Amino acid sequence: MNKSPTPITVAYGDGIGPEIMQATLDILKAAGANIFIEEIEIGEQVYLRGQTNGIEVSAWESLRRNKVFLKAPITTPQGGGYKSLNVSMRKALGLFANIRPCVAYSHYVTTKHPDMDLVIIRENEEDLYAGIEHRQTEEVFQCLKLITRPGCERIVRYAFEYAKQNNRKRITCFVKDNIMKLTDGLFHQVFKEIAAEYPDIQHDSMIVDIGAARVADTPEAFDMIVMPNLYGDIISDVAAQIAGSLGMAGSSNIGDRCAMFEAIHGSAPDIAGKNIANPSGLLHGAIQMLVHIGQGDIAEKIHNAWLTCLEQGLHTADIYKEGESKIKLGTKEFAAEVIRNLGEQPIKLPVANYNDAKPLNLPVIGHRPAKTKELVGIDVFLQWQQGKPMELGETLSRIGTNMLSLQLITNRGVKVWPQGFPETYCVDHWRCRFMGVERAVDFAELLALQTRLHDAGFDVVKTENLYNFDGEPGYAAVHG
Ligand code: NAI
Repeated sequence: MNKSPTPITVAYGDGIGPEIMQATLDILKAAGANIFIEEIEIGEQVYLRGQTNGIEVSAWESLRRNKVFLKAPITTPQGGGYKSLNVSMRKALGLFANIRPCVAYSHYVTTKHPDMDLVIIRENEEDLYAGIEHRQTEEVFQCLKLITRPGCERIVRYAFEYAKQNNRKRITCFVKDNIMKLTDGLFHQVFKEIAAEYPDIQHDSMIVDIGAARVADTPEAFDMIVMPNLYGDIISDVAAQIAGSLGMAGSSNIGDRCAMFEAIHGSAPDIAGKNIANPSGLLHGAIQMLVHIGQGDIAEKIHNAWLTCLEQGLHTADIYKEGESKIKLGTKEFAAEVIRNLGEQPIKLPVANYNDAKPLNLPVIGHRPAKTKELVGIDVFLQWQQGKPMELGETLSRIGTNMLSLQLITNRGVKVWPQGFPETYCVDHWRCRFMGVERAVDFAELLALQTRLHDAGFDVVKTENLYNFDGEPGYAAVHG
C-alpha cells in the first residue's frame, strides 16, 4: 500500500529564494519524493505589510501542524528594530540542534582543503543568543550568557547519536572553559559524561581559539565538532567557506517536535531574478529533510545525481571554472540536469548512501534531582565614579556587618580591593562581594544590606545571589 505523502511547510523566501526553491522542488518531485506541500509566506513582504516579526499567525499554525519546514533564505530589512526571524523561529519551535555538513568536492569545486569532510553540530538556542542584554551604568553594557544542563545534554547526545547513525568516528568539543569555568565548564563536563556512554566513538576537546585556528588550517583533521551557539555560528561559516563555497552548503535545525531545513547562504539580492543562483545549498537542505522524514532512498538518488552533475562539469556560475567546467548553467537548467541524472552515480566522488538512515534515537532529557542549595552571600553591582577603590572598600566595609562582610571588590572582573593595583583601569561599574561569615545567609539580610547601601547614597544597579550546591560554590572564584 502506498504511504500517504508527508506534509511539509515550504517558504519561497526573498531575493533568489523563489528561484532556488522552485529548482529544488522540481528535483524533489522528479525524484519521487512523497511529500505534500503547504506554502507559507515569510520575510520581507510580510515585514512591509507591517508584521514586524516577518511571519503571520497562520504561518506559525502551518509550521506547528506539519512540523517539517523547508525554508528558502529571507531578507532581513536593515535598521529599525527588526528581530531576526531565523533566531525567533529556532527558539519558538525548539530547534536546539543545527547540523552543517561541510564537504569539499575537489577538484570540481576549488578549495585548499580537498580532503575536508566535517560535520559541525552547533547548539542553537542558548548561550549569548538568549537576547538578555542590559545597560547597567553610563559606561557598561551586559549580555547574559546562559548555558543549561538540559541544553548541553540534548546537543551532546544529539552529536553522539548522529555520529553513530552516520558512521562518524570522532567528535571534538570546542569550549573556552579555561576562562568561562562554570558555563563552558558545564558544556565540557556534559560532553565527557555522555562520551563515556559511546566507547566506539573517539572524543577529544580543544579550547575554541586554537580549535578555530586548526579548522581554518587543517579542517581535514576533524570528523565532527560539537560546540555552544556563538562559537558554532562563527566556525560553521568559516568551515563552509573553506570547503569551497558558502553557496553549496545546506543545514538542518532539529528539535524534539519540529525541524527546519535550509541553505546556509542568504537571499543574495545582488543576483535575484537573473536565473544564475546555485540551488545546491537549498537542495542539500532538502536532502537532509528527506532523510529526516524517512525517505533516505530519494535523498540518496538526488544526492548522487547532483554529484554526477558536478563530475560532468555541469556548473552554475558561482563554481564555473574556465577550461575545467563543461557548461555554465542557469538555475533552471542546472535543476534539469540533476533531474536528467537521477538514477546515476558519481564515478570519482564518494557515492552518497542514506539507505540505512533511521530517525535518531534521542531520549527525552529530564531534570535532575535538586541539590541542597544554600545562600552564602551576594554580589552587589554599583554604579559609582566618585573616587578610588580604597575609599569604596572602606565605606562598604562599614555598611557590611560582622555576619555579612565585604570580601572583595572587582572592576570588570579584576580585583581592585583589597590590595588592588593603581594601574588597573576602572569604569563606573563595581562588583562588591559580601559573604556570610561561616554560615548560611538569610535572604532578609541581603535585602537589609541593599537598603543600607541605598540609604548611604549608593546606586545599586544589580545583585547576584551566591549559592552553594551540595557544598560546591555556584559562582566563579575571584583570584589575584
Ligand atoms: P548572501 O549569502 O545572500 O550573499 C553573499 C554573496 O554570496 C553574494 O555575492 C551572493 O550573490 C552570493 N551568493 C549567495 N548565495 C548564492 C547562491 N546560491 N548562488 C550564487 N551566489 C550566491 O549574504 P548577504 O548579501 O550578506 O545577505 C543578503 C540578505 O540575506 C540579508 O538580508 C541577510 O540578512 C539575509 N540572510 C538570510 C539568511 C537566511 O535566511 N537563512 C542567512 C544569511 C543572510
